[in-house]
Amino acid sequence: MSFDRSMKIAPSILSADFSNIGQEIRAIESEGCDWVHVDVMDGHFVPNMTFGPPVIASFRPHVKTFMDVHLMISPVDQYIEAYAEAGADMIVAHVEASTHIHRTMQAIRAQGVKCGVALNPGTPASAVAELLDIVDMVLIMTVNPGFGGQKFIHSCVEKTREVRQMIGDREVHIQIDGGVTPETVPLVAAAGADVFVAGSAVFKGGSVENPAPYGKNIRAIRDAANAVL
Ligand code: DX5
Ligand code: ZN
Repeated sequence: MSFDRSMKIAPSILSADFSNIGQEIRAIESEGCDWVHVDVMDGHFVPNMTFGPPVIASFRPHVKTFMDVHLMISPVDQYIEAYAEAGADMIVAHVEASTHIHRTMQAIRAQGVKCGVALNPGTPASAVAELLDIVDMVLIMTVNPGFGGQKFIHSCVEKTREVRQMIGDREVHIQIDGGVTPETVPLVAAAGADVFVAGSAVFKGGSVENPAPYGKNIRAIRDAANAVL
């Protein structure tokens, strides 16, 4: 797959109805999302718990687009193989969650999947400076990880601009995760991000019986970002 910096909307299925997950995934894809973002939490690195590898393997057949798996877990290295085998197209690990983050990125690559590094709001852009030649994506958290529906942290906009400058000509995506709405997305789109995760802002107002609001919500985010590009 060749590199493509065009805008991508990646709904976080953290805000989906888990009892209907196959239908939820089909609904967001048919309503126009680009990627499907899966949030993995361990109750240790972040104060919440979500999906293990067998659960993600059960999502996989439903995802026709691209599944990025955001690991908010520590330790992380010993679980990479299991998440790759579960069917992740991309695995993202936190710089704060690994003692040897470069080794973690190598371990993800060795599984033959795309790799990304994530930064918490309290971590500076410089923390990824030595990784830009080996990653496919930098994920900039715009909330403290652990929960959907939190408020966007504005200081992360300047950091996005910095990371974009550091990336230069490299084929590396910038993903924004947390508090993305039609109001906040223009800030980070203008700062150079290209992949936008949104949970509550995509799923609000819709359901598998009534998926049209998903499409409307995705278009609202896309249009607001396009307006500043
Ligand atoms: C937070 C997760 C996010 C979150 C986004 O820890 O990584 O992906 O679910 O949810 P919203 O868009 O509701 O902030
Ligand atoms: Zn996430």
